[in-house]
Amino acid sequence: MKTSVPTYHAKAPFADMGGQGSHTQLAPTPLVDGFNRQLTYLRLSVTDFCNFRCDYCLPNGYQGKRPDDELTLAEIDTLFDGFVSLGTKKVRLTGGEPSVRRDLADIIALAKQHGIAKIAISSNGYKLAKHLSSWQNAGLNQLNLSIDSFDKNIFKKITGFDILPTLLNDVDKLLQMTDIKLKMNGILMHDTAYDNLLSALDFVKERPVTYRFIEFMQTSDNADLFFAQNQTAQFIKDYLVTHGWQPKPKVQDDGPAIEYIHPDYAGSIGIIEPYAKNFCDSCNRLRVSSLGKVHLCLFDSQNYDIRPYLATQDKKGLMTALKGLMPIKPEHHYLDSHSGMMNNLSLVGG
Ligand code: GTP
Ligand code: 5AD
Ligand code: SF4
Repeated sequence: MKTSVPTYHAKAPFADMGGQGSHTQLAPTPLVDGFNRQLTYLRLSVTDFCNFRCDYCLPNGYQGKRPDDELTLAEIDTLFDGFVSLGTKKVRLTGGEPSVRRDLADIIALAKQHGIAKIAISSNGYKLAKHLSSWQNAGLNQLNLSIDSFDKNIFKKITGFDILPTLLNDVDKLLQMTDIKLKMNGILMHDTAYDNLLSALDFVKERPVTYRFIEFMQTSDNADLFFAQNQTAQFIKDYLVTHGWQPKPKVQDDGPAIEYIHPDYAGSIGIIEPYAKNFCDSCNRLRVSSLGKVHLCLFDSQNYDIRPYLATQDKKGLMTALKGLMPIKPEHHYLDSHSGMMNNLSLVGG
């Protein structure tokens, strides 16, 4: 459901402070929601479109035509301007698949110009080597890649693309030639989890990479696969602990993943458990879709249109609108009580 930013929010806490950060040297007033969580992390989907057909996300591929009205660079400029003045310190560019945008390096450079300290991308890694130097030159700091299997045939079965060997070669190029921090994501599936764990351990032995197992989240498009394959991360934690791995203490601004480290390994293993109690307690993120809608939570059925502010370069209006949304950011995702609110995660990039 699409909803405009409700006008009554103009009276919300902080609403009268709009624009302050743009004219003074004061530190930005951060966005704080109704549960006292500082939202300093923007996840911007730059396109809905994805070229892969991952069986847990878009099993039949992207449906329909790619929209021709994705946010423009000029609109993204205003977006970054407003968010930075409200305390944003990290931006993740997601999709769909963000690399299908030809101006992705320009978007990274724009984020850099706005002084955003951490600039990250979540990608499927298609033709990664082709993009590496332009992303690095533009200022990319972190890359999260989906690698759902280290087995070429299983990878092909999951994604529809027979590119695992090329992708892993490109990963090694990235590690040798750039200083981009790399994480890999794999969805936890009952049939492949154990083999994947052994392969991931092997992979991170000599490489400074974090491989993260993500618990499979149910959406309306993946219900059958979800019931057949969902698997909690408990056995991974048990395996790691009995093999000498230890959870790394969290520091400020860390995401929801719990990372395990081991003295004999260059890399680490992470676990993302969206179904775990307290997963959302330290939520620090806001999402904006490629058409300029704010999603206050990954699984919120509502979204809020900020495009009119972006289209008119109305930074002050944007800031007031964002502050007005703070009191209604949901406390958590209510994933246990519903599932069908989201068709798949390609709209907001996970
Ligand atoms: P960093 O901590 O910056 O590395 O980012 P991340 O782990 O949030 O980024 P990534 O895009 O790699 O996300 C990995 C997956 O974690 C997402 O696809 C989701 O499955 C899950 N995830 C990330 N953020 C949230 C969130 O806010 N809520 C829920 N339920 N799941 C999330
Ligand atoms: N459950 C968990 N993670 C998902 N992703 C996509 N769909 C789901 C889902 N249903 C993940 C991708 C990618 C990240 C951006 O989102 O695997 O790593
Ligand atoms: Fe934040 Fe919603 Fe994600 Fe929970 S599910 S961490 S509240 S965005």
